[in-house]
Amino acid sequence: MSEYILETQHLVMQFGGLIATNDVSIRCREHEIVGLIGANGAGKTTLFNMISGQLKPKSGKVIFKGNEIQGSSPHQACRMGIGRTHQIVQPFADLTVLENVMVGALLKHASVAVAREKAEAILEQVGLTPRRDVKGGDLNLPELKRMELARALATEPELLLLDEVMAGLNPTDCQGVVELILRIRDSGMSIILIEHVMKAVMSLSDHLYVLNQGCLISQGSVEEVTNDPAVIASYLGEKKSAET
Ligand SMILES: Nc1ncnc2c1ncn2[C@@H]1O[C@H](COP(=O)(O)OP(=O)(O)OP(=O)(O)O)[C@@H](O)[C@H]1O
Ligand SMILES: [Mg+2]
Repeated sequence: MSEYILETQHLVMQFGGLIATNDVSIRCREHEIVGLIGANGAGKTTLFNMISGQLKPKSGKVIFKGNEIQGSSPHQACRMGIGRTHQIVQPFADLTVLENVMVGALLKHASVAVAREKAEAILEQVGLTPRRDVKGGDLNLPELKRMELARALATEPELLLLDEVMAGLNPTDCQGVVELILRIRDSGMSIILIEHVMKAVMSLSDHLYVLNQGCLISQGSVEEVTNDPAVIASYLGEKKSAET
């Protein structure tokens, strides 16, 4: 058995004339937090979509726990143990927060009572218990991001794919989510994290990959990647000047 819970091998995705991911191979060890960074349009979400079954790769492999799963449906990937959040959060606006999370739990548990119990425990874990009876459509952004995380956790994943769960949050809310992600990892999960909030991704990642225009241009420890001239030229330099 491989020491990696997830491996992608040479993944290619093409939309018409655009090659959105080009020969992308990444790996995530058990209980590791892997960061995935890169400019807008680099292909990060597309890579997640191929891992979680939303997109079928043109070529290449997705290997989860030693089995090839590329081309599985989202439902199958979820049942196998791959949970994800979406960059654009789309809650069931008319369902309560608790019900939104129960929808995730019902994928694994046929009993509504059990799903409710699981959902309640997860709301406690993400700090949303006081908001459990509020409608999904009435949450503010930080709450919405936590509910999205809760919905993914409710599917009881072994591998969690987080697509910009900190986008739009203020530094205090970001720090809260960073601590939550560390607790989730410590509970035994493996995590791949797409994030533009550099402070967060630097503090969380055991290993980093950098995508640029569909291609992996760098990988390694946070220190290695942040000192890589190719990464500074294509991404970090640009971010730095945007921040000042
Ligand atoms: N379903 C689709 N049909 C056509 N083109 C798409 C589709 N999904 C993504 N693309 C294109 O593929 C490229 C990669 O998009 P992707 O969403 O993966 O980027 P990203 O790295 O997640 O960017 P961001 O940081 O802005 O979220 C972009 O040029 C995008 O416009
Ligand atoms: Mg994206």
